[in-house]
Amino acid sequence: MNHFSGMTRREFARLIGTASALGVLEPQLVTMALADNKRSLNYLANRTAGAEGNWELKKIEGKVPKALNGTLIRTAPGQKETFGVPLQHLFDGDAYLSKLTFREGKVSLQARFLDTPQRVEEQQQKRMLYNEVGTLAPSLPEGYNRKYRGKNQPSVNIIRWDGRYLGLSEGGPPVEIDPNTLGYKSEWNFYGTLPGDVPFTAHPKFDPVTGEGYAYGIKRGMGLALTVFRMEKDGKLKQLYSLPQPQYFMVHDMLLSKDHLIFVMPPVWVEVAKAMSGKVAPFQALRFGDEMPTKIVILRKDGTGKPITINQPANMVFHNGNAFEKDGKLQFDSILSPDGSVLKAVGSFDAAEPVKTTPNHLTRLTVDLAKGELVSRNELEAEVEFPRFDERLGGTEARYLYTGGFNGGLSEATAIVKHDLHRRTSKKIQPAKGRTYAESVFVPQPGKISEDQGWLLTLGYDANQDQTFLEIRDAATMDFQARVWAGIHYPLGFHGNFYANVPS
Ligand SMILES: [Fe+2]
Repeated sequence: MNHFSGMTRREFARLIGTASALGVLEPQLVTMALADNKRSLNYLANRTAGAEGNWELKKIEGKVPKALNGTLIRTAPGQKETFGVPLQHLFDGDAYLSKLTFREGKVSLQARFLDTPQRVEEQQQKRMLYNEVGTLAPSLPEGYNRKYRGKNQPSVNIIRWDGRYLGLSEGGPPVEIDPNTLGYKSEWNFYGTLPGDVPFTAHPKFDPVTGEGYAYGIKRGMGLALTVFRMEKDGKLKQLYSLPQPQYFMVHDMLLSKDHLIFVMPPVWVEVAKAMSGKVAPFQALRFGDEMPTKIVILRKDGTGKPITINQPANMVFHNGNAFEKDGKLQFDSILSPDGSVLKAVGSFDAAEPVKTTPNHLTRLTVDLAKGELVSRNELEAEVEFPRFDERLGGTEARYLYTGGFNGGLSEATAIVKHDLHRRTSKKIQPAKGRTYAESVFVPQPGKISEDQGWLLTLGYDANQDQTFLEIRDAATMDFQARVWAGIHYPLGFHGNFYANVPS
């Protein structure tokens, strides 16, 4: 390492990362070098994608079930540097899409950056022109007005709706993606029914009984309002509520039960004047109000009645599990952090020393709907994230919840956890040394209706191989079924979904 001694850690990591992407360094050397540089496993797993292309994946441990047919389609922030500018935030980076397609035991991978007009412009000019969520672009030549030059990169989630594949960011409208090529088609406003000043959530929820979806966004500009929509089966949005808000709150996820929609709103808001000043990136203008309540807002799905609002102590929340109604009570699971440390951790993802996070808790909340009061709040499990369940049970009582499980914080190796919400027990699959896991997606086994008869599909990263892999487990037993090696490293990202009959 002596010949690198004149470099800063950041310069060194950048050099090694670039050399790795170009294929001029052996993976083990990359791993050793980056480990020596004290980069966290989670940083390595989510750093800049190593390649774009189409591959038949032949390196498979175990056996891919022949009955598993369909495509896991995911999106992720794809790079951690833009033309020499290190990106600081975990959420920064252009959308990088991946399709893992399973056919009769065979697996193929298609992966590439999404060519949004903003990415294309930056690539052509070979400079960072647009602010990222957490990183400000450098000074630009005369003629550029950087104040409002934010990106709409659908790097958070991807769904299929109304026959379209929609990449979601929550920073703007959805982006329609060509499922054959993973190419950019256009922004999509649901046949003109999504107002231009309402960004669309990255976490719409779908009612398996009616086939309808529900979504929301905080209306920008004058008259800030939590704006709630039903995603109707004709592909249009119908506005159900517009609830005025005193601040531009950050609400990342929602829940759906038989008759209600639930928002767990942390006291996190954007200081708009600061964000608009052009002097800080949007996420640097976020505030967590320690003395302010977390608001639980419960609405009727049919758009009638008054909202129920319940104040709770200040908690940070990104994601929720499922919700259901039983004997006049509404029960739902939310992952609550006691402070805003996770915001600092994701915002300084590029820092040499990761920020420590206070453990969060998967928490079961029970509300008496008639009284509009919280009747109980029970912590089920500490240090979890990315909750998923059998979506056929969305809005009704599900026994099992699948999450990631942290081992000392966001930057460390992440486990796979299956929670039995009836017995209040959990089973944890720890990654092998040098590996970490991302979100697990449950795929029902064809012809089976029991809740956990199916597979868990979990993307992972191996630092020894410097390679991304997909692991398949039996969701009932959590037994290993197969590990499919991608042959390249690409970032794990946050969310994705499994669909049958995706064009390829
Ligand atoms: Fe999310």
